[in-house]
Amino acid sequence: MPDLYPLARRLLFAMDAETAHHATLSGMRAADALGVLGLLTGSGRSPDPLESAVEVMGLRFPNRVGLAAGLDKAGTAVHAFGELGFGHVEVGTVTPRPQPGNDKPRLFRLKEHGAIINRMGFNNPGVAGLLANLERSRKDFRGVLGINIGKNFDTPNEEAIRDYLLCLEGVYGAADYVTANLSSPNTKGLRDLQNAETCRELILRLQERRESLQAGHGGKRVPLVIKIAPDLSDEAVAALAGVFSETRIDGVITTNTTIAREAVAGHPLANEAGGLSGSPLTEQATAILARLRSELDPAIPVIGSGGVMTADDARAKFEAGAALVQVYTGLIYRGPRLVREIAVMR
Ligand SMILES: Cc1cc2nc3c(=O)[nH]c(=O)nc-3n(C[C@H](O)[C@H](O)[C@H](O)COP(=O)(O)O)c2cc1C
Repeated sequence: MPDLYPLARRLLFAMDAETAHHATLSGMRAADALGVLGLLTGSGRSPDPLESAVEVMGLRFPNRVGLAAGLDKAGTAVHAFGELGFGHVEVGTVTPRPQPGNDKPRLFRLKEHGAIINRMGFNNPGVAGLLANLERSRKDFRGVLGINIGKNFDTPNEEAIRDYLLCLEGVYGAADYVTANLSSPNTKGLRDLQNAETCRELILRLQERRESLQAGHGGKRVPLVIKIAPDLSDEAVAALAGVFSETRIDGVITTNTTIAREAVAGHPLANEAGGLSGSPLTEQATAILARLRSELDPAIPVIGSGGVMTADDARAKFEAGAALVQVYTGLIYRGPRLVREIAVMR
């Protein structure tokens, strides 16, 4: 099966980045509805399913590669991403109430670097809207569904925990696992929640609420995951590792996008505000993963995100101790072939 993605990419890269994003999602949904997505991309479950199952956080993942949060923010294409071969799909970030996000333009390709800068600002349909979308889009999806939660832009940080609790309550029944995103650079004050004391309180409150939700959902226990930034000092990572080990959080995702720009210095778009992802992030994210892994209770799994552009990048994350990996920017630059390459890796 020839790889059609280079051609599709040429068309998509001729559009502005956000238009291309919406066109891709619509195209995927349409092809999926016709049952031809896996065949068209040469990457899907047919003819040979991408199965090499692992158990992580008590859940069975069909393979070790997932879709990182932010691509299917509104949860409209979960089954379609499953057809591309993803073993798990993380939707969101969702906030309690719908919100439009930042003004456009807010998404930029730095092609020469295999990178993206985004300052989307959690544009999302809110918890109720997400749940309505999932009802349709996750039907027959056989992978693991993560739901990534955050706070509304106008919720002051003192009340941030309330937003996370509202989201947890809202999405509990629908989620296989829930990720608390403390690391987007595009919501003012969000990353301050990574302060060890604040983070401990947030985790304890989420765990306490989970206990009652578990009882109300027939004993269904939803693993809680924390997603952290790549821009943390060694001391901050060590402090967080202590909190994660002590609270026995179920998992950690390293990392979100970076606010650093050294790797793309001199590029005309380098000074756009927002988070940088893709190739310039690969090593920085793997270094944080390795650092956290070395300090963290070995029983707590870490999920590697950040600059997975090739199977070798994924291998480096696994060697640094990742149980699973996630991709976003790599999918934009490499297409669905990347998913297959990682899924079949031994
Ligand atoms: C356009 C865009 C939007 C994103 N939105 C979110 C988001 O809503 N929540 C989140 O936790 N991460 C978000 N991310 C971060 C990705 O999930 C991922 O952690 C990061 O991009 C690093 O991986 P990558 O280099 O494979 O893209 C976003 C990334 C991009 C490029």
